[in-house]
Amino acid sequence: MEFVTIGIVTHGQTVPGSIMQLTAQAFEELRGLIQRLCGVALSAEKEYLVRHRLEPVARDHGCASFEELIRKLRGPEALALSDAVVEAITTSETSFFRDGQPFEAVRRLILPALGEQLLARKARLPFVSGPTVRFWSAAAATGQEAYSLAMLVHDHIEAQRGRGVTDKDFSILATDVSEPVLARARSATYSERELARGLTAGQIARYFVRHGDHWLVREPIRRLVTFARANLVQPLNILGPFDAIFCRNVLIYFDDATKLRICLRFHDLLAPGGCLVLGAAENLYGVTDRFEALHWEGTLLYRKPTPAAAPKGSHR
Ligand SMILES: C[S@@+](CC[C@H](N)C(=O)[O-])C[C@H]1O[C@@H](n2cnc3c(N)ncnc32)[C@H](O)[C@@H]1O
Repeated sequence: MEFVTIGIVTHGQTVPGSIMQLTAQAFEELRGLIQRLCGVALSAEKEYLVRHRLEPVARDHGCASFEELIRKLRGPEALALSDAVVEAITTSETSFFRDGQPFEAVRRLILPALGEQLLARKARLPFVSGPTVRFWSAAAATGQEAYSLAMLVHDHIEAQRGRGVTDKDFSILATDVSEPVLARARSATYSERELARGLTAGQIARYFVRHGDHWLVREPIRRLVTFARANLVQPLNILGPFDAIFCRNVLIYFDDATKLRICLRFHDLLAPGGCLVLGAAENLYGVTDRFEALHWEGTLLYRKPTPAAAPKGSHR
């Protein structure tokens, strides 16, 4: 995509010379920096994307060139600037119940099985609280994925309340690398257009309350979700075990070595029998064979084998 800027406004002044030149060397350096910051591996053809998305960031931070942006990314201003670069480069496209089937699998397969395990544990140890059933939305963007899970969990709790199941038995952790998208997720406020992508009128009435021209997720759904910042390519300060990890539509941006590192970390953090759920166009083929692939009604789930079922031999 070509675009032409006719002037750069820096500290209130219009700098003549308009378009910023992105030299091959600056592109290489920015590619490397971006990969270290958030794992996103940009191919050589993505030069236009770097130029298009980072020129406004450079301008907003008073840089007259990409070289100056690179210098600042290596200097004392790096922290604030890195956030802006990650925010500009990553895409936070998402929707409620995205792709449908993985959420059907949670509703009809995963939650009933976990619910039975929970009831069996409660019967065995009636006076011991926890551990809870735990879900993790690991690239949560603006929160639709985590709240979709929370709606399913909420309905499960309501259906099982008579058997002693309560909100305290479930939790959903939602993380993302980008603080601005997390702030939107925490606000739990969505436009009519965002709700129309994935929700029926009945679901909107059940799970949302109108706030002016926006809609707020109802409190019983909100309180099931905790948001935190986490960068999947850096050491994670997150404790397992989780019963299911949703990591959808983000691994696609990483190279194979990064995907492998992250998936092995997920493997460590999953409970035996727990599931990793990827995006509809993603799979672990050629990445790792630590998980067993489970095909359920057209969706692919990756299960961490239970110790008895774990295949022997060397693993990637
Ligand atoms: C396309 S959205 C996917 C949202 C949701 N999982 C879905 O499938 O609808 C990708 C998200 O991954 C986040 N992301 C990118 N790099 C990341 C990283 N290194 N660690 C954590 N999140 C990251 C982005 O900020 C963005 O919100």
